[in-house]
Amino acid sequence: ASSLQQVSKPLASCVDGENEYANLDWDNLGFGITPADFMYSMKCSKGGSFEQGQLSRYGNVELSPSAGVLNYGQGLYEGTKAYRKEDGRLLLFRPDQNAIRMKMGADRLCMPCPSIDQFVDAVKGVALANKRWVPPPGKGTLYIRPLLMGSGPVLGLAPAPEYTFLVYASPVGNYFKEGLAPLNLYIEEEFHRASRGGAGGVKSITNYAPVMKAIGRAKSRGFSDVLYLDSVNKKYLEEVSSCNIFLVKGNVISTPAASGTILQGVTRRSVIEIARDHGYQKLNQVEERAIPVEELMDADEVFCTGTAVGVAPVGNITYQNRRVEYQMRAESVSQELYSTLEGIKTGIIEDKKGWILEI
Ligand code: COI
Repeated sequence: ASSLQQVSKPLASCVDGENEYANLDWDNLGFGITPADFMYSMKCSKGGSFEQGQLSRYGNVELSPSAGVLNYGQGLYEGTKAYRKEDGRLLLFRPDQNAIRMKMGADRLCMPCPSIDQFVDAVKGVALANKRWVPPPGKGTLYIRPLLMGSGPVLGLAPAPEYTFLVYASPVGNYFKEGLAPLNLYIEEEFHRASRGGAGGVKSITNYAPVMKAIGRAKSRGFSDVLYLDSVNKKYLEEVSSCNIFLVKGNVISTPAASGTILQGVTRRSVIEIARDHGYQKLNQVEERAIPVEELMDADEVFCTGTAVGVAPVGNITYQNRRVEYQMRAESVSQELYSTLEGIKTGIIEDKKGWILEI
C-alpha cells in the first residue's frame, strides 16, 4: 500500500478509474512483452541507501552511455508473478524470496540493494497499479520483473556511483511455445552456463546473453531449450537456460545441489519443500546432490522448474546423438507437484506455509 500512496495525483486517479481488464486477447498469451501501465523506480547513490521510490507510467529509461550496467554488466534481475483469484483479489507467491536472492546477488556484484520490505512493497505496488493487466483466473499471470542496476557513469572498472531499482510487469501465458506439452531438451557440450567462482549462482544479467547461442542452435533443431553440464568434469547436471532440472528414479526425486554454479530457484525450493512435506507419492526422499548425466538418461521421469516455466515435464533428452524418451505417466510426479503448487499459488489449495501474500 505504501507504494501506491506515492503515486502522484493524476496517476492515482488513472489507477482508480481503470476498467476491470485491459483490452487483450487473454486466450492467446505467450511469454512476450506486453507492457502494463505502470512501473516503479527508486534510486540510490554509492554509499547511500534506497529512499522513496515512485510509480510512473511505463516508458523508456534514460541512462548515461557510461552507466555501469551498460559497460560492465553490473545488473541483476528477478522474476515473480501475480495471480488473480476467482474473487478478483491478487496473490503474490513468496516475493520475499526474490528480495533475499536479489540481496545475495547485489553483494556479489558490489551493489547496494533495496531492503526486503522495500522490494516487496514495490512488487505489491506494481501488481496493484497494473491490476487490469493481471489475466483472468486460468488464463495466465502478471509476470513482474524487478531490476537492479549500476545506473551511474564509470569508465574504470569499478562499481557505479549510482544505482536504480526498477520494477515493470507484463501479462504472460506459458513460457514455452509447447504450452504444457512435454519439453524436448538438448544437452549442450560446447558451451557452459557458469563456472566455479563465477556468478552462476546469482541472477546476474551476465548469465543470460552467453546462453543465447546455444539456445538458438538447439531451437533451430526443434528443441525447447538446452541443459548445461558442469564446466570442470563436463558430466554433472547444472540447469536449463531458463529453469532448474529434477529427475525421478524409483522412489527418489533428485536435483543438482545449488553449490554456486546454478540458480537457487524459488520454484525449485518450493517444489523440494512440497515433496518433502508430502512424502510425495511414497517418494520418501528428495536429494540435492551432484548428478552425473547418465543418471538423467536412465531416469523414470524428468521435469523442469522455474518462475516463468512453472513445473514442466520433459518428454525427451538428446545427448551425444542419443535420444531418450520418457514415458508420460498419467499420475506423474511432475503433474502432482504442478497441481499442488498451482493450487497454492492461485488460492485453491490452502497455504499452510505462509507463502502467499494476498493484496
Ligand atoms: C524466470 O523464470 O522468472 C526467469 O527469470 C527465467 C527467464 C529466462 C524468463
